[in-house]
Amino acid sequence: MAGQLVLIGGPANRPLAEASARALGVPLAACEVARFPDGEIHVEVHESVRNADVYLLQPTSPPIESHLFQLLLLADACRRGGAERVTAVVPYFGYARQDRRASGREAVGARVVADAMGGVHIDRVVAVDLHTPALEGVFPMPLEQLTAVPRLAEALGPDAEREVVVAPDAGAIKLAERWARRLELPHAAVHKTRIGGGEVQTRGLAGEVRGCRPLVVDDMISTGGTIAGAIAAVLEAGAIPDVVVAVTHALFVGSAGERLRKLPIACTFVTDTVGAEPPPGLNVRTVSVAPLLADAVSRLHEGRSLGDVILHV
Ligand code: R5P
Repeated sequence: MAGQLVLIGGPANRPLAEASARALGVPLAACEVARFPDGEIHVEVHESVRNADVYLLQPTSPPIESHLFQLLLLADACRRGGAERVTAVVPYFGYARQDRRASGREAVGARVVADAMGGVHIDRVVAVDLHTPALEGVFPMPLEQLTAVPRLAEALGPDAEREVVVAPDAGAIKLAERWARRLELPHAAVHKTRIGGGEVQTRGLAGEVRGCRPLVVDDMISTGGTIAGAIAAVLEAGAIPDVVVAVTHALFVGSAGERLRKLPIACTFVTDTVGAEPPPGLNVRTVSVAPLLADAVSRLHEGRSLGDVILHV
């Protein structure tokens, strides 16, 4: 077993850090994250981490650059403080969608972020429902991919009584297949083209949704454009206007609330990886990933298998 377990919660999502600490039965180590008057971020860990097995819990959610840099500085502080091993637990991994170039002169943001984590000698990264499992290839260190799908599926309760699982775009097909297997339902997929940051276009779908109550699943809601486009497409194809949505990462940026409120969504199930306040007027149920993170941290610390908490692609 590695040195003593030390859990540090960055400022990005304190409620999740506190809930994970409770689930793990350890206190959060005291640390300070502040800004100097010129805007520089300053961090200091107030407890010994010498020879420790440190877990830094910080989603790189909006404001992404601040949260990412806080994480990098915390990792550096732990390393310089003599930690034996530093694991970044990043429930939501910002820049995950920048996983490849669409044109010749774009950056591959996910690779830049993963390299920055390697640059401060983070030994391992733990993430939840990454935009694509293929992202593993950009990380210079081992990546453990957890999935919140079983927790979301349990939380659905009677809302799991659906007739079809819908992937809102091609990227979500594997996820929809996992949901469909779990709920023993058929699945369908919407043809989506992104035409701008918050604008998408849909062109029909593959699969049968007529007369069905759909469960639309995705890795995240950001502007809500993808989910809104998918719902419009399934309604046009004859689905019943009684939709349940289940996503892991709830960013709800910009006018997501306004967009989604207009739609026949009975309930939106999300997790607390990001911790953004759900928009008013939308029926949102939040499932905590704290038990999942605590389970993964305890298994990693004790050198036990991650078994069924990791994503089986
Ligand atoms: C894209 O491929 C992702 O899986 C999500 O579908 C998308 O990023 C959600 O963003 P938005 O809510 O802005 O459409």
